[in-house]
Amino acid sequence: MNKKIAILASGNGTNAENIIRYFRSRGTAEVSLVLTNRPTAYVLQRAASLGVPAFSFTRDEWADGRPILDVLQAHGVDFVVLAGFLARVPDNVLHAYPGRMVNIHPSLLPKFGGKGMYGDRVHQAVLEAGETESGITIHYTNEHYDEGAVICQYRCPVLPGDTPESLAQRVHTLEYEHYPRVVEELVLALG
Ligand code: GAR
Repeated sequence: MNKKIAILASGNGTNAENIIRYFRSRGTAEVSLVLTNRPTAYVLQRAASLGVPAFSFTRDEWADGRPILDVLQAHGVDFVVLAGFLARVPDNVLHAYPGRMVNIHPSLLPKFGGKGMYGDRVHQAVLEAGETESGITIHYTNEHYDEGAVICQYRCPVLPGDTPESLAQRVHTLEYEHYPRVVEELVLALG
């Protein structure tokens, strides 16, 4: 039977939608759940229009972790994918998915990572530092923001005249190209 994936996302959810569509077309695994910490996150609408069950949990529920674990287990989730998820994953959820939970970060970690570094803030910092390249890091999730073991990185140039938006777009292109495929490899390797 196909493995089941849950996506955790806090915002727009373009990566979540891309991953859902990827697995629908490949048929190699199934995104069976979307979870968020923000009731207004647009990812909830994307999930609804794609027919994927989606749930929003409160700050207290995320701090506790038990309600999140319950829904993951009720849906038989095998693998957890963070895609623009900006809250901390509770320890009991982390420990339930050792080696089965990954995150994507829109920079070449360890540069420009850590608490508070997400989305356009990352791209702004890359530009302010005068970097000539940026990219994405796909890594396992652990107790610390952006510090889990790196699985792979992909690079893109930072071009003269780039804005956070133009750099974000280039980085998003890398994310859409690689994240679903890397998740697929990891999920299929579970056996
Ligand atoms: C993505 O660029 C992802 O790498 C980043 O948030 C964006 C979410 O976009 N994640 C982080 O910054 C995590 N620290 P999306 O909601 O359109 O998928």
